[in-house]
Amino acid sequence: MICIREERPVDIENVRKLNEKAFTQAFGQAPEADLVDRLRENCSNILSLVAVQNDQVIGHIYFSPVNISGDKIIEGIGLGPMAVLPEFQRRGIGSQLVQAGIEILKRRGYTFIIVLGHPEYYPRFGFKRASHSGIRSQWEGVPDEAFMILILNEEAMIGVYGIARYRNEFDETV
Ligand SMILES: CC(C)(COP(=O)(O)OP(=O)(O)OC[C@H]1O[C@@H](n2cnc3c(N)ncnc32)[C@H](O)[C@@H]1OP(=O)(O)O)[C@@H](O)C(=O)NCCC(=O)NCCS
Repeated sequence: MICIREERPVDIENVRKLNEKAFTQAFGQAPEADLVDRLRENCSNILSLVAVQNDQVIGHIYFSPVNISGDKIIEGIGLGPMAVLPEFQRRGIGSQLVQAGIEILKRRGYTFIIVLGHPEYYPRFGFKRASHSGIRSQWEGVPDEAFMILILNEEAMIGVYGIARYRNEFDETV
């Protein structure tokens, strides 16, 4: 039985270990573990969810503020990093974390969620190429298909286009 809930202070060390393990296994390094700690310290307006099984933290997803600045500036949220312990991957836990996050953010009145991630994974949750809505990444060289948006409030997004900016803490990681 897997429970998805908001991170508690007691989870912080386990979330760090989980990110270290999952990202090191996937990419040989895990700067995302530091990124999560820095965002948690510097930014109160975040959503951090954990997947827990038998009191063990087996998955984690993080959302932090992203601004889109064009003719007007609008604040939404960015998905990531997210990770699932290697031995629990490909069992739908990542999907449960994404879906739970989307539901909570909808209820909290967010207008959009941005993600920079695998183009074959996120469309299953409704994410679409951000460039089709006139929204671009702040970073050079990001593949167009990897930069995606899920619009939660169509009306609030009318006339919104421009560059989506994550918090500065991401610049050291991306
Ligand atoms: C990405 C990750 C969180 C997915 O968690 P998960 O619990 O395995 O996800 P789910 O079981 O819900 O979904 C599995 C799907 O993810 C896809 N997927 C996972 N990692 C992928 C990757 N690197 N590239 C492409 N697809 C990937 C698989 O294709 C799979 O799809 P399928 O079931 O249709 O074959 C997990 O693989 C992970 O921790 N990876 C290392 C860290 C990472 O890359 N995080 C994402 C960037 S922030």
